[in-house]
Amino acid sequence: MKNQENFILAIESSCDDTSAAVLCNKKVLSNVVATQEIHQKYGGVVPELASRAHQQNIVPVVHQALAQANIDKKQLSAIAFTRGPGLMGSLLVGASFAKSLSLGLAIPLIEVNHMQAHILAHFIEDREQESPDFPFLAMTISGGHTQIVLVKSYFEMEIIGETLDDAVGEAFDKSAKLLGLPYPGGPLIDKYAKLGNEKAFEFPKPKVDGLNFSFSGLKTSILYFIQKKTKENSEFVTENLADICASIQFTILEILMDKLKLAVKQTGVKRIAIGGGVAANSGIRSRLANAEEEFGWKTYIPKFEYCTDNAAMIGIVGHFKFLEKDFAEQNIAAKARYKLSS
Ligand code: KG4
Ligand code: ZN
Repeated sequence: MKNQENFILAIESSCDDTSAAVLCNKKVLSNVVATQEIHQKYGGVVPELASRAHQQNIVPVVHQALAQANIDKKQLSAIAFTRGPGLMGSLLVGASFAKSLSLGLAIPLIEVNHMQAHILAHFIEDREQESPDFPFLAMTISGGHTQIVLVKSYFEMEIIGETLDDAVGEAFDKSAKLLGLPYPGGPLIDKYAKLGNEKAFEFPKPKVDGLNFSFSGLKTSILYFIQKKTKENSEFVTENLADICASIQFTILEILMDKLKLAVKQTGVKRIAIGGGVAANSGIRSRLANAEEEFGWKTYIPKFEYCTDNAAMIGIVGHFKFLEKDFAEQNIAAKARYKLSS
């Protein structure tokens, strides 16, 4: 029904992607992402450069999102933005822009937790994806986070496991850097892994109790392994790239799957949803797809464009908060550390 439609403009600027989306209720009308290429030559995100690039991108990206959605800004019901967690300089650009626009248009402002958004991305209405029933387990795997969350409702979420050091995306990116691959190396490891033997080399799995993760030891063992092998043969990495990538990816996937199995055992919840940039990994996608038959789980894998950082996922949280009239004040501050809480 026309009068129940709400149009949310969502803005995401927590790291190195500037994104804007327009949603009509739970449907995505547009989802524009400007990826910042500048960081590639530094082998990682440079916060000051990210902030500057967001300032350059935000106006054209928002214009494009409105144009693609065929929506005039006067039709908007509210503006949702990523409040955190993320890089402060990056968050400030999105937050300031969202505040000014909501003030200028005299429409509500909605603040969104980026991690909640990765989880609720599963509720975007799309023919190609199904939404999980509550409760479910969400494993959020990205460049900044690695968490297992027990999701009881749209707004009740309990972190039951998280990384004690590096995020899984960092493990991918740092391993790739050791192999001389450009940033972000995760997708490249995925690409080469498809051509290699995952059992070619063995890397140790960390021993961490319970549902927590640790990835810093893996990075160190890969470093020592490469140093040792290149001493024996300076062409070792080039000659064995596919096998090394496949073996690294295998180890990381084993770590993730072991913890998921334990989480299912502890909670009795067999609905598993993944989110975050690493959820784009073809290995984890096929492991989870197979887990339906292998372990009797029901798994939810979001569409590729809703895995990596995007504003559509911010918009879906915006939609649910809009229905609750959960609006933010104009003096709200961005939050670099913003814990996901119930
Ligand atoms: O969620 P995201 O876009 O940004 C953060 O909030 O961190 O995640 C980015 C991370 C990077 O570490 C990137 O290397 C990783 O996701 N990534 C992948 C793949 N695609 C993106 N890692 C492994 N395989 C992939 N196909
Ligand atoms: Zn993210």
